[in-house]
Amino acid sequence: MTELKNDRFLRALLREPVDRTPVWMMRQAGRYLPEYRATRQQAGSFLDLCKNRELACEVTMQPLRRYPMDAAILFSDILTVPDAMGLGLYFEEGEGPRFRKTVRSEADLAALHSISAKDDLGYVMDAVSTIRHELNGKVPLIGFSGSPWTLATYMVEGGSSKDFSRIKTMAYDQPELMHGLLSLLADAVADYLSAQVEAGAQALQIFDTWGGALSAAGYKEFSLKYMQRILSRLPSEADGRKLPVIVFTKGGGQWLSSIADCGAQAVGIDWTTDIGSARALVGDRVALQGNMDPMMLFASPERIRAEVASILSGFGHGTGHVFNLGHGITPGVNPDHVTAFVDAVAEFSPQYHQQD
Ligand code: CP3
Repeated sequence: MTELKNDRFLRALLREPVDRTPVWMMRQAGRYLPEYRATRQQAGSFLDLCKNRELACEVTMQPLRRYPMDAAILFSDILTVPDAMGLGLYFEEGEGPRFRKTVRSEADLAALHSISAKDDLGYVMDAVSTIRHELNGKVPLIGFSGSPWTLATYMVEGGSSKDFSRIKTMAYDQPELMHGLLSLLADAVADYLSAQVEAGAQALQIFDTWGGALSAAGYKEFSLKYMQRILSRLPSEADGRKLPVIVFTKGGGQWLSSIADCGAQAVGIDWTTDIGSARALVGDRVALQGNMDPMMLFASPERIRAEVASILSGFGHGTGHVFNLGHGITPGVNPDHVTAFVDAVAEFSPQYHQQD
């Protein structure tokens, strides 16, 4: 096993002392980078890119060549799981993800393939082991999955949705069908994430991108409960160290106290939450990850630096903070502005860790 040269990301997630605040960006490999667009073109399509271990490894490494990020994230997509279940994922140019089949009835649920991550998503595990080899201990590798609720929104709606009318109608009128689908997904995601750890992932993130669309009661019943179920089934160690898991519910700021008790080591927060208040609320239960508004990257480098300084001071002294955006980086951002962001974290954060 190669020794990890930079482990401040893993240490901060476990609230162990660090020399400075670690940083990475959600969606750090992607369309804001010209080299990503070139590799994607070479692959032919986004899905072909995900299914080619060498190219998936290449795009995972691209942001690390430009920026001193403290973690790499597997290049893949959350929708590979419903694709493997037989729904037929495809991407319509400019329209986002679509499924050929949807899940709207008991018969649709029964028709889903039961999957084994190792066999049916073997290409993801191949990418994980290829990336681990290529990283050669430079920084830790994050594996990920969508939350059951977030995956279900795409499976029921058939793609992205503005109001989630179909899935919410199902949740309210046919709770048994909804829970049947979510249980199936929780089993599949627990297996999928465990297989990623076995293949070499050193930390995990569960993206609950659409949990924030639920009511407070609905969030506990349809999203948090299933993430808890997954967390209780994950291995506790990776590579002989404790495995940290990050739960990120976009729009979950009001429910941070319950999220902090779900069994994850860290909670991702979006930019609508004040990080100092979040820290006061969660105390020493979990580490926090976040939370600069991704749109701030369109502002000037000076403005970006001031925002980084303000978030660092909002969190305050001590470990337990992983710097990130409050959601994924968007296409169109000037890559030089990312340099300003990452450099500002490295420059301003050591003062918060002096007595760690
Ligand atoms: O963070 C990373 O760099 C790792 C790769 C990654 C992708 N998708 C690559 C991708 C990760 C972690 C995801 C997660 C994902 N995928 C989420 C949850 C995170 C979030 O942003 O809230 C969701 C909801 C999806 C589903 C998805 N995939 C959508 C809605 C889209 C189209 C819109 C978009 O953001 O581009 C995708 C496609 C996708 N996934 C792209 C990338 C780089 C763009 C594909 C392309 O055109 O090249």
